Amino acid sequence: MHYFKYHRNELYCENVRVADILKKTGTPAYIYSSKTFASHVRKLQKAFRRFNPLICYSMKANSNLAVLKTMLREGAGLDIVSGGELYRAKCVECPPEKIVYAGVGKTAEEIAEALRYGILFFNVESEPELEMIDRVARDLRKLARVSLRINPDVDPRTHHHIATGKKESKFGLDLETAEKIFRKRQRFSSVSFCAIHVHIGSQILFSDPFVEAFRKTLAFIDEIEKRGAKIEYLNLGGGLGVIYCDERPQTAQEFAKKIAPLFAGRKLRLIFEPGRFIVANGGILCARTLYVKQTPTKNFAIVDAAMNDLIRPSLYDAYHAVWPLEKKPQGATAIYDVVGPVCESGDFFAKGRELQKMKAGDAVAIMTAGAYGFTMSSNYNARPRACEVLVHGSRWEIVRKREALEDLAAGETIPDFF
Ligand code: LLP
Repeated sequence: MHYFKYHRNELYCENVRVADILKKTGTPAYIYSSKTFASHVRKLQKAFRRFNPLICYSMKANSNLAVLKTMLREGAGLDIVSGGELYRAKCVECPPEKIVYAGVGKTAEEIAEALRYGILFFNVESEPELEMIDRVARDLRKLARVSLRINPDVDPRTHHHIATGKKESKFGLDLETAEKIFRKRQRFSSVSFCAIHVHIGSQILFSDPFVEAFRKTLAFIDEIEKRGAKIEYLNLGGGLGVIYCDERPQTAQEFAKKIAPLFAGRKLRLIFEPGRFIVANGGILCARTLYVKQTPTKNFAIVDAAMNDLIRPSLYDAYHAVWPLEKKPQGATAIYDVVGPVCESGDFFAKGRELQKMKAGDAVAIMTAGAYGFTMSSNYNARPRACEVLVHGSRWEIVRKREALEDLAAGETIPDFF
C-alpha cells in the first residue's frame, strides 16, 4: 500500500500533483511519501504489539535526514553499518539506546565513536571483531554491549547478491563458532553479551525461511542459556519483501502470525531491522524522456535518469514499474526499452515493456524506488546526483538539493608537480 495514485489521470503523491513538484525541481528527482513510510512502521508495530518490539529502521535503504526523522517520529530507532551512518543518526538526534550497529568490517575508530555515543549494541560478525570491540572498550573504560550475529545456514530464496544467512556467506558466525565464543566469554572482560542477531537476506517473500532461521536461533539461545548466558534482546534483522511486479509477499500481519508463536512465553525484547519494507514503495524516481529512438529491432525511450541514479535493474536485474505522469486511458501503447544516457548497455530501467506511447518531454515515474535508490547512487559519467523531495499531505520540500557541477570536483586538486 502506498500513496502514489492517479487523480483525473495525473499522478499524485499524497495530495500533491507530481508534475507540480517537477516544475520546480526539474528531473531526475526522487519523491518520497512520508505518509507511506509512517504507515509501514505502524503496520509492523501493530502486528507485533504484544511484544512491544524496537524497530530499528535500516538506514542503508534510504538515509536522507528527513526520512530518518520521519522514522524517529514514529518511535523507531536505527540500524547502522558505518561511521557515516552513525554520523547521520547523530544529525537527527537518534536516541543512542535505539541504535544497533552491524557490518563485518567495523574499524577501531568507528567502534570507539559508537561506544562514546552509547549505542544499544554491536552486532558482532567475527571473533577478531569481538576482540577489537573488547580492546577499544577497555581503552575507553566502557562496557560494550554486543549481540552475536548467528549465521543459521538457511536459504532465503532471494537474489544471490542479497542472501546473507547461508553458510558460504561472509556474514555472521556459524553456530559452532558462536558457541565456542560463548564458552570463553569471560576472556572478553569489557564486553557484555546481551543479545543475539540473525538476518538471513533481503526481499524475502515467504515466512518459512524466517521461521527456520528463528527456530535455529532460539535453540541456540536455549543452549547457551543452559550454560549461564543471559540474553535480553533478540534482533531478528530485516528482509521482508515488497511488491515490485507481481510478487505476493507476506504482510506484516501474516508474518507476525507465523513467527509470533515461536516467541510466546519468552522474556526476550524483540528488535526488527526493516529497510525495504518501510521505504521501498514510498519513493519514486521521476525522469523525463529526452528522445525516442527507433532502431530496426527496438524502441528506446531515453530518459534523463540513469543507472547512476538507480542501479537496481543493472545490478540485480530488478523489475521496477514505469508509470506515466499523465495517463492517457484510451491512448496507444508500444514496447519500449527505457534506458538512461550512461555509456553502458547495462544502463536500463525496463526492457521490452509495454507502455503508453512516449514522446520527448513526457515524464515518467520509476516506481518502488524508495529503498536502495538514492543511497546506492553515484556520480558515474560525471552526473550530478538527483534531488530528493519529501511530501507530507499537501506540503512538500526539497530535502536534498540536486548536486551542482562544482560538487562533482569538490575535494579534488591538481598536484603542484604539474
Ligand atoms: N539488517 C541487516 C544486517 C542488513 O544487512 C540489511 C540489508 C537489513 C537489515 C535491511 O534489509 P531489508 O529489510 O531492507 O531487506 N541493495 C539491495 C539490498 C541490500 C540489503 C543489504 N542489507 C537491493 O537493492 O535489493
